[in-house]
Amino acid sequence: RKRTVVLISGRGSNMAALIEAASDTSYPAEIVGVISDQPEARGLRVAAARGIPTRTIVRSDYASKAHHDAAIDAALNGFNAEIVALAGYMRLLTAGFAEKWAGRMINIHPSLLPSFKGLEPHRRALEAGVKVHGCTVHFVTPEMDDGPIIAQAAVPVLAGDDEASLVARILKAEHPLYVLALKMLAEGKVAMEDGKVRFSAGTGLVENA
Ligand code: GAR
Repeated sequence: RKRTVVLISGRGSNMAALIEAASDTSYPAEIVGVISDQPEARGLRVAAARGIPTRTIVRSDYASKAHHDAAIDAALNGFNAEIVALAGYMRLLTAGFAEKWAGRMINIHPSLLPSFKGLEPHRRALEAGVKVHGCTVHFVTPEMDDGPIIAQAAVPVLAGDDEASLVARILKAEHPLYVLALKMLAEGKVAMEDGKVRFSAGTGLVENA
């Protein structure tokens, strides 16, 4: 099973979904650690309660973003991580870090990328009046919420939705999507090659042109 570390900044509901899926030993990834940049992140307590080792690595303890990322990299190596899953990690990673983990690091974002990258995607989707919103799991590249798309789930925007109702509907779609995408990566069914997503033969999934 692929040794996977989850990076969080807050609630950790996607992290909890991955921990839950990986508690089944037939799942091809195991969650061996959780790293947070926020000491108060609720996800840290959730992980600890499930017996998962946690580390808090705070940006202000380091002279630069590069030093902070180097400390995270060292912690990942300490966990012997093979895969990194960003789950509500709300900090842009340095290009060097992203390149080092290229093809082995994935992220979930609550929009149908490449629409609505960045902060408050739900609010901006409501403002734009889109009728379909959703979530995306993608390989991490140096640009924010960019990188080859592994999987997406579409969710309807309904009359009367506000940000909270849309957030909740999308979050429900995020959890199984992330479990699926990590499974595919851990079993080698998806890879990043030349900056594009490649699926193994027989999956029949859509690749970058
Ligand atoms: C999730 O909706 C995730 O997609 C989003 O933050 C939330 C974290 O919730 N991530 C981003 O916006 C990344 N750009 P969680 O801590 O309960 O998983």
